[in-house]
Amino acid sequence: MRTIPLGKTGLNVPAVALGCMRLSALDERGADAYVKTALDFGANFFDHADIYGGGVCEEIFGRAVQGIARDKLLIQSKCGIVPGQRYDFSKEHILRSVEASLKRLQTDYLDVLLLHRPDALMEPEEVAEAFCQLQAAGKVRFFGVSNQNPMQMALLQKYLPMPLCADQIQLSLAFCGAIAQGMHVNIECDSAVVRDGSVLDYCRLNDITIQPWSPFQHGMFGGPFLGSADYRKLNAAIDKVAEGYGVSNTTIALAWLLRHPARFQPVVGTMNLTRLADCLRAADIVLSRQEWYDLYLAAGNDLP
Ligand SMILES: NC(=O)c1ccc[n+]([C@@H]2O[C@H](COP(=O)([O-])OP(=O)(O)OC[C@H]3O[C@@H](n4cnc5c(N)ncnc54)[C@H](OP(=O)(O)O)[C@@H]3O)[C@@H](O)[C@H]2O)c1
Repeated sequence: MRTIPLGKTGLNVPAVALGCMRLSALDERGADAYVKTALDFGANFFDHADIYGGGVCEEIFGRAVQGIARDKLLIQSKCGIVPGQRYDFSKEHILRSVEASLKRLQTDYLDVLLLHRPDALMEPEEVAEAFCQLQAAGKVRFFGVSNQNPMQMALLQKYLPMPLCADQIQLSLAFCGAIAQGMHVNIECDSAVVRDGSVLDYCRLNDITIQPWSPFQHGMFGGPFLGSADYRKLNAAIDKVAEGYGVSNTTIALAWLLRHPARFQPVVGTMNLTRLADCLRAADIVLSRQEWYDLYLAAGNDLP
């Protein structure tokens, strides 16, 4: 599997990460097969969160990787959401959440911890204390965020001794405002609206890896755009490129993200082993510039 640098960590990580949010749909055998399929492709970077499946996803994964040497795995988890109640970046919550994740995952450390969604009541000094304590104790190696804009990251970074390594944001062929706005600078149209503070440019400037979540979805969990009647033109364009490479539509949809020079690390969520293999094959495909733009346009975007 092709690797990319993860922020400024010095780690080279697989270009495609395995999202474990839907792992609770699998039984024990299914989870074992999922992990084995991923590792057979050299994909060993797994993305979790304390809240996935109410903790069940981390538990299932923890059981599935028993017997695999810990240093053969890269495990990322997230904290900071108390579902339906609040976001919580307090030191106490971060420390408690990590302890609980470690227990469920049956491991001594996380490779990466992300703050899941911006907390309006964040005290950056408290987050810094929590991060330093976790790092000093050997419980977390590297830190990042998710769904944050550049100003939020810069504010937090001001208080941290370690560089933020990643920002996980929603990004796909059918959800690519973060890319489109950069090609509509100063144009009077909706695509020019900057909804994310230019997070893409900020992350590239600061060597922060963008991890696109839901790379096959449209809207906020609107369902996959592949095969969707709402995206006929896009699907026809993807199918055409896929035929040329002799691969599936899944592979091409992901190859589109991987072609971006920011070197994204998409987080794929399929639990279907055939589709998983198709996702992991995308790392071997480099779309041409024209193919990339053809798909961008077929997704309903324009070039001013
Ligand atoms: N940071 C955040 O706020 C945030 C939010 C959401 C997700 N995430 C992370 O991102 C990961 C991926 O999210 P996601 O699962 O929504 O992403 P996804 O990879 O876009 O979607 C996967 C879902 O689409 C279905 N699907 C149907 N056709 C597909 C096709 N042709 N190719 C691929 N999938 C197809 C899959 O079903 P099958 O299983 O049947 O293939 C699965 O239910 C999560 O596991 C989680 O780690 C992070």
